[in-house]
Amino acid sequence: MPEDPKNNKTEVTQGLSRRGFLSSVSAGAVVAVSLKDAVPVRAQEIEATGKTATIQLIVNGTRRKVLVEPRWSLAYVLREVLGLTGTKIGCERGECGACTVLIDGKPQYSCITLAVEAEGREITTIEGLMQGDKLGPVQQAFLEEDAFQCGFCTSGQIMAVEGLLRRNANPDMDQIRTGVSGNLCRCGAYKNIFNAAEKASRLKKQGGAS
Ligand code: FES
Ligand code: FES
Repeated sequence: MPEDPKNNKTEVTQGLSRRGFLSSVSAGAVVAVSLKDAVPVRAQEIEATGKTATIQLIVNGTRRKVLVEPRWSLAYVLREVLGLTGTKIGCERGECGACTVLIDGKPQYSCITLAVEAEGREITTIEGLMQGDKLGPVQQAFLEEDAFQCGFCTSGQIMAVEGLLRRNANPDMDQIRTGVSGNLCRCGAYKNIFNAAEKASRLKKQGGAS
C-alpha cells in the first residue's frame, strides 16, 4: 500500500502499487485495460531520480497539479489526493473493474494505471458524469433499472457503460454484455445492469448525453 499522502506536506498523491501493476494486465480485462505500454519511460525516469514528481492530471475537465511517486496508482490519487471517492477500489489487481474510469474516453482500470501514465490525458470519473445537480443519463438509467444491490461495483459498471455508449450509441445486447465484460458484480445484478445500459442508450438519444 502506498504511503499516506497526508504525511506529505505537498499537495499530492499516491498511486498504484508496483506489485499490483505488474500482476495486473490479467484475464478478464476485456474492455478496461491499463496503459502499461505507456508507462515505462515516464515512470522509470522519475523513479531513477528517487524523487516524487509534480504532474498535471485533467480530471473531469479541470487541470489538477499533483505530486506523485512513480508507483502511485491513478485510483489512489483520485481517491486519496483529489478526494474523488466515487471511484472504488476492489481487487486492486485489474480483475474486478470497480475502479474503472475513462481515460481519453475509454474505460481503464485506474488501479493498474499509474498516475504518471495518465498525465495530460482526459480523465473522467463517476463524478464527472453529473449534469449539474442532476444525474447523467447512464447514472439515471442505473437508478431507474435498479441496477445494483450493494453498489460497490456500480461506479465501475456505469463508467464501462458510458465508455461503451461513447463509441457505440446503439449497442445490441451482445455488445452490451461485451462492453461490461471487464466489470464483475458479486451481487449478480447483471440482468438489470444490461437493461440499464439499454435504457441509457435511449436516454442519451433523448438529449441527456453527458
Ligand atoms: S480492477 Fe481495479 S480494483 Fe479491481
Ligand atoms: S451491486 Fe454488489 S457487487 Fe455489484
